[in-house]
Amino acid sequence: MFFLFLSPFLIKELVMDIGEGFVFDLSGEHPELPFAEVISVFEALDLDFEVFGCFNRVLVVGVEGLDVEYLSGRLSMSHRVCSLVGFERDYSGLIEVSSSLRPEGSFCVRAVNRGGSCGGRDVEREVGGVIDGVVDLDDPDVVYRVFIVDGGYVLGRELSDIDRGKFDRWKPTVRPHFSPVGINPRFARLIVNLSRVGRDEVLLDPFAGTGSFLIEGGFVRAFPVGVDIDRDMLLGCRRNLDFVGLDSDLIQADALNLPFRERSVDAVVADPPYGRSSRVDAGSLDELINKSVEEMFRVLKKKGYLVLVLPEGTDLIGWADEIESYRVRVHRSLTRVIRIFRRS
Ligand SMILES: C[S@@+](CC[C@H](N)C(=O)[O-])C[C@H]1O[C@@H](n2cnc3c(N)ncnc32)[C@H](O)[C@@H]1O
Repeated sequence: MFFLFLSPFLIKELVMDIGEGFVFDLSGEHPELPFAEVISVFEALDLDFEVFGCFNRVLVVGVEGLDVEYLSGRLSMSHRVCSLVGFERDYSGLIEVSSSLRPEGSFCVRAVNRGGSCGGRDVEREVGGVIDGVVDLDDPDVVYRVFIVDGGYVLGRELSDIDRGKFDRWKPTVRPHFSPVGINPRFARLIVNLSRVGRDEVLLDPFAGTGSFLIEGGFVRAFPVGVDIDRDMLLGCRRNLDFVGLDSDLIQADALNLPFRERSVDAVVADPPYGRSSRVDAGSLDELINKSVEEMFRVLKKKGYLVLVLPEGTDLIGWADEIESYRVRVHRSLTRVIRIFRRS
């Protein structure tokens, strides 16, 4: 991951080269994952993009051909997406850019301090005062967002306010089949996004459980395929998929011997059993994980991604294809490690 701070002038030049400029308002749930998720989805969609900078959860990028509606529906760790209007080092530059704005319909300005030196309220009032239009604080047609960052001001026009509350509608406790192994939808969506699975591509989960990853794979319009050794779990998984109105191929099989041809799936996501609340069907946990990872690599297409969710300390033999890993603390006695591999 890299962080740049380019001059506003350079940013404008680069945006012209690379397509449109966008600002992503990232969530603060994790220091790296919200950024990684956005980049992974760009890669999943095969987009040309350039990161201009990431300043305390404000990501500024140039992207060609972005489908903002699909992307906003897909992300789990971003609050909103804006088109980039200006990126100014000085306050006077911000005021100058703002005074050239002529929104169609009513507007409002929302400013937030993300490591900058002045307060959001004053900026809202002063920027709002120079924009040529009718202010409506309750139901504006256009929302301008000012991010006051360390060393400058990022001005965006809001394109989408991401509905992150939607994930609660199918959280494990609401779904008809509950098991303590069920992963919450927001985290499951993140894992699916990190797998870079594209629309209509096959996403395999060889330890499907209650179907958390399959559900998110279905929502992003991939083609989910689930394997589990436990028939009852698969029946419950089917009920959960029906509950959200999605479909998936479900196969009762052993993850150590997957019933698929070599290089036949586009992406794999896996949350192997930890042994405490889930059933382990192998000699030992380490054996199950290491052998099943070998199987996952066998069935994964070249350049396809495998995302593993493992408890910290799992003894996984080294794979040269590992490209990223992230630690996520769940509670006092569980820290998960997300390990991402790209098949060479
Ligand atoms: C940690 S749970 C997965 C939970 C799932 N991610 C969810 O959100 O519901 C692990 C699953 O692996 C299954 N399992 C255990 N050993 C297996 C094996 N050898 N092959 C396939 N599935 C296995 C268990 O039945 C269990 O459903």
